[in-house]
Order: sequence, then C-alpha cells, then structure tokens
Amino acid sequence: MAYSNLEDKNVVIIGGTAGIGLAAAKMASDQGAKVWAAGRSDAHIEKAKQLSGGSFEVRKADTHDAAALNKIFSEVGKVDHLVSAAVGGERTLKPFLEQTQQQFQAAYDKLWGYCNAVRVGAPYVEDDGAITLVSGSPARKLAVGQSPLSCVGASVENLVRCLALELAPIRVNVVSPGTIDTAMFDHFGEKKQVTLQGMTQSHLIKRAGSSEEVAAGIIFVMQNEFVTGTTVDVDGGRLLS
Ligand SMILES: NC(=O)c1ccc[n+]([C@@H]2O[C@H](COP(=O)([O-])OP(=O)(O)OC[C@H]3O[C@@H](n4cnc5c(N)ncnc54)[C@H](OP(=O)(O)O)[C@@H]3O)[C@@H](O)[C@H]2O)c1
Repeated sequence: MAYSNLEDKNVVIIGGTAGIGLAAAKMASDQGAKVWAAGRSDAHIEKAKQLSGGSFEVRKADTHDAAALNKIFSEVGKVDHLVSAAVGGERTLKPFLEQTQQQFQAAYDKLWGYCNAVRVGAPYVEDDGAITLVSGSPARKLAVGQSPLSCVGASVENLVRCLALELAPIRVNVVSPGTIDTAMFDHFGEKKQVTLQGMTQSHLIKRAGSSEEVAAGIIFVMQNEFVTGTTVDVDGGRLLS
C-alpha cells in the first residue's frame, strides 16, 4: 500500500505558527518529519517556538514576500511536503452590494499568497512529494454576507485541481475546514466560546472543531500516495446542515 511514512521527510508549512498550520507542524514533527513552520508575527513565532520545544524550525515569512519564502525553501533544499494554511487576506462579512470592490478584493490576498507559496515552493518539491492547501467550508456552503469567503475558498479548491493536473506526479490536495476553534475567532474575546457554539448549532456535529482534527486531514493527504486533486472536508458535517 502506498502510504508514506513521514520519518525524515522535509515539510514546509507556511502559516504554520498558529492554529491549523501549527497543529499540522507539531503532528508531522511528532511523526519524525523535519518541519519548517513560517508565519509573519513575532507573537505567533514565539508561541510556535515554545510549542516546538526545538523539535521543529520556525521562520518568519509572509506568503506575499517571495524573497522571504525562497529563503526558507532554499534553506530546506529538497522539499517532500509543502503546506500552506496561511489566512493571508482581510474578509469583509456583509452582503456583496454593501462591499466596496477594494473590500471584496482584499479577501483574495489569501489566494495570491497561496499562488506565491506554490510558485516559489513547487520547484523545490520532489516528484514523489505533495502540496496541500487549506480552503474552508464557505467554498461550498453558501451564506448571506460571506461572498468573499465563498469565492476565495472556491478559487483555492479549483486552483488545487488545476495544479494537480499541471504538477503531476507531485500530488496536490486541499483540506477544507468547517468552523474551527482557532485564533481566527479571538477577536470575539470572552464571547468566543458562546459565539462558536451558536455558529455550530445547526451542524451535524454541534461544536467547533479543533486545529488537531483538521491537521489530521492534512497529514492524511500528505501520507496517502493515491490521493491527488481532491478536497478533504473536516467540517463536522457543516456542508449537509
Ligand atoms: N478557523 C476556522 O474556522 C477556519 C474555517 C475555514 C477555513 N479556515 C482556513 O484555515 C486556514 C488556517 O486558519 P486558522 O484558523 O488556523 O488561522 P490562525 O489560527 O489565525 O492561523 C493562521 C496562521 O497563518 C499565518 N498567516 C496569516 N497570514 C499569513 C501570511 N500572509 N503569510 C504567512 N503566514 C500567514 C498566521 O501567523 P501570522 O498572523 O503571525 O502571520 C498563523 O500562523 C486559513 O486558510 C483559513 O482561512 C479556517
């Protein structure tokens, strides 16, 4: 069975200093991979360094900064797995007609960041390696006021299918999280847990997911050598709710 061990594999995770990316970095490292996790802010970098306890490398890079990304990839050399879980865009959650073009476009910074990470990183990825991106359930679960999230998520998922065709034999997949309890919701402050409970009450599994549950989906597509061009939903059944 083609199911690769992560032992001694080189794994680069952009957006790997918090939330889902950080959980994936820890999980891959725990399975013996050599991991480089990158993000922008010093605060996240510091926390990631603490969590890693030196078991994986943490670097500073923005998905929009090709030179910073290239510095990491050239340090790593041969890359077995490239993951991007960076948020990388500002979303304005209100109906389309109430948004300016600039607000709508800002959400697309996530897509441009992913494009950049793949454009810079793919030449370093081994033929038997894989690229994994992260979209989100709004790509296919539509809701009023979420058009930027939906459009960007759908673009990421379509980009992945295009890349799977063009970059084969490198495998390219996308993991789509539902509502996940990460720093993304920290702006709700002390109302965070109540808000997450409210957001998930109509889901088949009535709670927010954890970063680790999504990271397990990322590890699955990294390891299973018969999976490419696919979307793995880790969303507590949100798509069916
Ligand atoms: N949480 C959810 O409910 C949910 C739902 C659907 C989809 N998603 C998607 O899942 C992915 C991970 O989200 P998360 O919830 O884990 O978010 P998070 O906890 O905020 O973590 C995001 C990570 O990406 C880094 N990052 C953000 N922008 C970046 C950029 N331009 N360049 C490099 N690194 C960047 C962050 O560090 P810095 O900010 O310090 O750079 C951090 O390490 C995102 O693509 C998000 O859209 C999340």
